Amino acid sequence: MRTDSSPTTIYRKDYTPPAYLVDTVELGFDLAPASTVVANRITLRRNPDAAGSDIVLHGEEIELVQLRLNGQLLGEGDYELSAATLTIRNAPAEVVLEIETVCAPVENTSLSGLYVSNGNFFTQCEAEGFRRITFFPDRPDVMAKYTVMLRANKEQYPVLLSNGNLIEQGDLDDGRHYAKWEDPFKKPSYLFALVAAKLVCQEEQFKLADGRDVLLQVWVEDGNLDKTDYAMQSLKNSIRWDEERFGLELDLDRFMIVAVGDFNMGAMENKGLNIFNTKFVLANPRTATDIDFAGIEAVVGHEYFHNWTGNRVTCRDWFQLSLKEGLTVFRDQEFSADMIGTDTGRAVTRIDQVRTLRQAQFPEDAGPMSHPVRPDSFVEINNFYTVTVYEKGAEVVRMYQTLLGRDGFRKGMDLYFDRHDGQAVACDDFRAAMADANGRDLTQFERWYSQAGTPVVTARTRYDAVKRNFDIILSQRGKPGQLPFHIPVAVGLLGADGKDLPLTLEHGKHAKGATTLVLELTEQEQIFRFREVDERPTPSILRDFSAPVILEHDYTDDELLHLFNHDSDPVNRWEAGQRLAMERLLKLTAQVAAHGAANLKLDQTFINAMRTVLSDESLDPAFRELALILPSETIIAEQMDVVDPQAIHTARQFMRHTIGTVLKAELLAQYHANQTPGEYSPDAASAGKRALKNLCLSYLLAAPEAAELQLAQQQFDNATNMTDRSAALVSLIHSGTDNGPHLQAFYDDFANEALVVDKWFAMQASAPTTNVAAVRKLMQHPAFTLKNPNRARSLIFNFTNANPSQFHAADGSAYEFWAEFVIKLDAINPQVAARLARAMDRWRRYAPALQAKMKQALEKVAARQLSNDVAEVITKALA
Ligand code: PHE
Ligand code: ZN
Repeated sequence: MRTDSSPTTIYRKDYTPPAYLVDTVELGFDLAPASTVVANRITLRRNPDAAGSDIVLHGEEIELVQLRLNGQLLGEGDYELSAATLTIRNAPAEVVLEIETVCAPVENTSLSGLYVSNGNFFTQCEAEGFRRITFFPDRPDVMAKYTVMLRANKEQYPVLLSNGNLIEQGDLDDGRHYAKWEDPFKKPSYLFALVAAKLVCQEEQFKLADGRDVLLQVWVEDGNLDKTDYAMQSLKNSIRWDEERFGLELDLDRFMIVAVGDFNMGAMENKGLNIFNTKFVLANPRTATDIDFAGIEAVVGHEYFHNWTGNRVTCRDWFQLSLKEGLTVFRDQEFSADMIGTDTGRAVTRIDQVRTLRQAQFPEDAGPMSHPVRPDSFVEINNFYTVTVYEKGAEVVRMYQTLLGRDGFRKGMDLYFDRHDGQAVACDDFRAAMADANGRDLTQFERWYSQAGTPVVTARTRYDAVKRNFDIILSQRGKPGQLPFHIPVAVGLLGADGKDLPLTLEHGKHAKGATTLVLELTEQEQIFRFREVDERPTPSILRDFSAPVILEHDYTDDELLHLFNHDSDPVNRWEAGQRLAMERLLKLTAQVAAHGAANLKLDQTFINAMRTVLSDESLDPAFRELALILPSETIIAEQMDVVDPQAIHTARQFMRHTIGTVLKAELLAQYHANQTPGEYSPDAASAGKRALKNLCLSYLLAAPEAAELQLAQQQFDNATNMTDRSAALVSLIHSGTDNGPHLQAFYDDFANEALVVDKWFAMQASAPTTNVAAVRKLMQHPAFTLKNPNRARSLIFNFTNANPSQFHAADGSAYEFWAEFVIKLDAINPQVAARLARAMDRWRRYAPALQAKMKQALEKVAARQLSNDVAEVITKALA
């Protein structure tokens, strides 16, 4: 974990194939918390496609007990051992290594490798955790077949799981037992997993499309079986969906999901044995919100879809991470959209994706950690599990589908699997499959993988009433020195009646009567001419957010209102509302900064637009909710050259307050119209109603009088599900009204539900009334611990990332808090610490007084002995 030497940077261009390949791996585990013995027998042979005869094995924080090469015991002179590698020079062409090591799972607080959580054993090997279990060429282009023998005390660890199929199990002496597992598929070491635990499962036989029966299991701690139904249902839906949409079948006889309370990420796609953060498995109406249910569906799908995109075809090296992650996020996004099944439902998921990009990916790409979807270098790979690799990577995959059509995309996928099943490949191989399957030249498209940053697309228009031509002139600019991207820009034209005009593009090939066309912007500037346009239209540009770019266009308020009221593309309809809101937010923010909060005004035009959409019952409630949410403080901050977090907060609160006051009657009406009586169901239609209703509540509580407070209190008291209960409590807390009794009641009800206690911390941490002193006080709560990532994130991250006006308190006290906990967390868990470290990414954009204090805090951290993870983030921030 600690490095004495300065961290080294690894470059993509330096990739060389491994000198040795591994055919088989036989692992034996004698599991005990303080000292686990690992016997590892691997057969290696020289790689015909590589040079050299040195075997390089990775190994970290493990103790070598014994090493044999082709049966011969090796002495210390026969190999070289460093802190990170074991090297055997001039090895024969075919080698059997027998390696015995010892590790200490109970001491492993980094949660990478083999560790103990609540008394049970789990592993996490991606990206480079397998080397913390045994010596191995721990790189994804080394794929082998694994056999695993697990031995442990039977009473303490009745369940012994690993990848693939259970071959044999039985009892041993001394109260121990064993289980032997065999994975029929070759895999890279990062997909290895074991679980030895006291768990129970929900299981089911499930019939695949080809008629085979498979065993599905969801493993959880005793007492949680009432929270596994949704994960199981989501798994079955995922299996069906991949069969139908991509013709991909489950290739194993059994598929297991295991939930663990201590986990660094969301979940992990280990072959046949997915290990999940409890947050993405456990749910029932009492403990989980609609958003939690949706998260479970998405993550269960995501990990299941990795079985093909990631496992059957894996990554050549970690620079190619987006090959599996971008593609698999795209697949889970499409899965979630298809599960809703309606066009607006699909658009609602798309709007959520756009919000995530703007909230997290655009800022990342404009900050010190900016990197291409396929990075060129890294110090610590764990720092590159980013919104860029995942979410922007998914946008890049989505653009293939936009350019090639659904059928063309499917052809590309089929060719990708025909060519590469069982291989470790690169992003270029995926692009080649898409191009070759469709006879398309996608050479220029490669720049989406190699060039970082968010391109800006500028649109100008001109109308020639005599010739009836309408021109859209698109130009693009990336970072200085970058070459033009291949950008699909979906466009429609609205007439004065709000209806789509049929499009006739000069020089274009397209269906007659089409109302949306995908323009391909490949040059720095291009003119697209529409013919036979009888009136000056309102252009709807970048429909469905067809590319991850910033679109600049000088829309007038009237045009935006026209789009907001009529655009047939719900994403751009929503977008028009966001533009209207953003213009006002920026003006109000500037006014607050210059003259204070007195005399602020919100124009009637905007309020009327909000009123109309709020009360338009022909619109999906889920869409109305999204249309009424103002851009977040973070997104507003991204639009400003010098960020003033207090002014942003004041301006946005003023707008919320005004909407809450002026539209009180309409908000109340919609609050009551969107109740969901009867049994709770997490389906999208019901969830959309609850979302709209609870947004109404939060607006009503932005300016609360007795009646509104009572409404929230009633909802809190009478709620039969967590969505309504927590929404009421959040509205109360965030409104700053006295909430001690409600918070206490909530805690008392759920003290034994770890995931709900996380919510309890999170909602307080993100309340604009919670300052750093209050957060420190919450840390004294007996339920708080730094060791559990979910808990640490719930309180600390929600404060540093979701409470900007308090995090940026003028005295800098919250920055000191940040520094203190980056350092403390780094000693426990570098991956979690490095994520917290990123809260300072954008420090250079703040007003000088804040900037100076942020720099001080960064330097305080930099002065410490740090993990590679945190060192990389801090060094880049200060560079
Ligand atoms: N590969 C996992 C996923 O995307 C994420 C992960 C990365 C989990 C590293 C653990 C460690 O689903
Ligand atoms: Zn993934």
